[in-house]
Amino acid sequence: MAESMQGLKRTHRCAELSAANTGETVTIMGWVQKNRNKGGLVFVDVRDRSGIIQAVFEEGKTDAELIEKAARLRAEFVVAIVGRVEKRSGAVNQNLATGEIEIIPEQLRILSESETPPFPIEENSKTKEEVRLKYRYLDLRRPDLQRNMMMRSQVATLTRQFLAEEGFLEIETPVLIGSTPEGARDYLVPSRIHQGHFYALPQSPQLFKQLLMCSGYDRYFQIARCFRDEDLRADRQPEFTQIDMELSFVDVDDVIDVNERLLARIFKEVLGVEVQLPIPRMTWREAMDRYGSDKPDIRFGMELCDVTEVVKDCGFAVFKGAIENGGSVRGINAKGQGSMPRKKIDKLVSFAKDYGAKGLAYIAVQEDGTAKSSFAKFMTEEETAALIQAMDGENGDLLLFAADQNKVVWDVLGALRLELARQMELLDKNDYRFLWVTEFPLLEWSEEQNRYTAMHHPFTMPMEEDLELIDSEPGKVRAKAYDIVLNGNEIGGGSVRIFNPEIQNKMFEVLGFTPEQAKEQFGFLLTAFKYGVPPHAGLAYGLDRLVMLMAKEDSIRDVIAFPKVKDASDLMTEAPTLVDQKQLDELGLRIIE
Ligand code: AMO
Ligand code: AMP
Repeated sequence: MAESMQGLKRTHRCAELSAANTGETVTIMGWVQKNRNKGGLVFVDVRDRSGIIQAVFEEGKTDAELIEKAARLRAEFVVAIVGRVEKRSGAVNQNLATGEIEIIPEQLRILSESETPPFPIEENSKTKEEVRLKYRYLDLRRPDLQRNMMMRSQVATLTRQFLAEEGFLEIETPVLIGSTPEGARDYLVPSRIHQGHFYALPQSPQLFKQLLMCSGYDRYFQIARCFRDEDLRADRQPEFTQIDMELSFVDVDDVIDVNERLLARIFKEVLGVEVQLPIPRMTWREAMDRYGSDKPDIRFGMELCDVTEVVKDCGFAVFKGAIENGGSVRGINAKGQGSMPRKKIDKLVSFAKDYGAKGLAYIAVQEDGTAKSSFAKFMTEEETAALIQAMDGENGDLLLFAADQNKVVWDVLGALRLELARQMELLDKNDYRFLWVTEFPLLEWSEEQNRYTAMHHPFTMPMEEDLELIDSEPGKVRAKAYDIVLNGNEIGGGSVRIFNPEIQNKMFEVLGFTPEQAKEQFGFLLTAFKYGVPPHAGLAYGLDRLVMLMAKEDSIRDVIAFPKVKDASDLMTEAPTLVDQKQLDELGLRIIE
């Protein structure tokens, strides 16, 4: 029979106790981590979210009955122990925060029993993630996940405190909204009352926060759940959380200023890390040219080098052809990798092909100064020497080149640079390098839709100096958009919004919306803008990504209490599930086999 809480009150969490409590009688409650029975001497480790403490049931100090009861305990039983804190009689356990002390029990209650769990509750679990996710409530007992969840809570609390101090109001926006097909795919919710009609779950509170600016709230924030039906990756979930904000009467620098101070506060208080302010800024174009990425990892160099000018007249048809087709030839120098075995280089070539390259040309400069190259035979010795020099190639370096349209070259070398950094172990998770990427292109050409789409969203303000290009060369117009990047991850993004109806209409026109379509989808926003709209701008962080990096995890699943797996299902609740015919009938839905 399980016992109850009657008359008991917890006085401390397990690891809140220390040598300072010696002599005190305390009450702790938690789960049995393990118990060791040495015949008349039973050691029980009790765990709660703060950590572990050892209780020692020993003849002469504790009743025989209690010792017997302690011997019956199994892993994950829930217990309450009342006892005296004493200095350890045995050796101090250096691995435990409470390693200097132990509890000598006067009372033991078994509050509930446990079957043998499907995997041990321990740090750095080797259990397969599928099993852990099926029993997520047990997984969440593990100390690493508990630390992550506590860190996440701390980040959210600090964010609320800081933004409140800065005059932001926390306002909730609806989760059942109308679908707006711009952006990622929506999750739809069928309406029972309006059969055949659907709500969409918000991809972000974007439209509502802009309306709140129209309503005069001037500084809004929300820790908001967002939903996007897109392909999942380690840094993407179908539902995720944004720290979302919007400000009135501001421009780019004002948004950046308050957010730099927010980030500095969070990193200082949670990790003890000083973020050097101001955070460096880089235009999108510079980021692409130097790093082949709009979210560069600036913890290491290995920057891209444009060698188009150097090779434009060389004999290598691949290089010449790419340049003649309007593309470029760029390379990276993997310092000290010149002796990489051929097999490993071949792996890099196929890696590059996965990112869209037609090939990857290389020169491996040997320690004796000779060069092994996949294309030297097409070049004169002078041309090869000039290329090596342009790449700052020294003896022992591996030079890798891609020739294609800029976009392909950037993608390939950007990805390769990161892959090499991983292989060369250049990435230190304790080194936090923030970067603002600014002046993104306003529009992106979509081959699939055969039209321009908004790179950020249709409400992003073009840079004033580029407005004149919007009809003639829309692809060249830059936006007042900015991303905040941390160690190669986009942790947040935002923009200054269009608040001028003419520019907004122009934007819809460029995006290929008819005035009717624009009105149908965003009519309420456009109407709202007719009644006095303040200039406004905003930003949203991916809270999950931010905490993932702070917790030094590789997947956002490790900082989300109940995440979904790659196919967007939940292994514990088995959602999504089939529903009753009755529910379908009420909604007027029929499943097509
Ligand atoms: P954006 O679409 O860039 O901007 O989203 C903001 C941030 O949210 C995070 N994020 C995600 N995190 C986990 N899983 C996902 N599927 C996912 N998608 C995005 C990223 C990203 O930087 N309304 C605008 C913001 C604004 O303009 O104010 C928006 O949603 O870290
Ligand atoms: P090939 O003439 O096809 O044997 O190619 C010679 C070398 O050029 C090989 O190392 C190829 O991988 C490389 N190569 C082919 N296409 C490209 C390209 N578009 N960019 C860079 N290297 C390439």
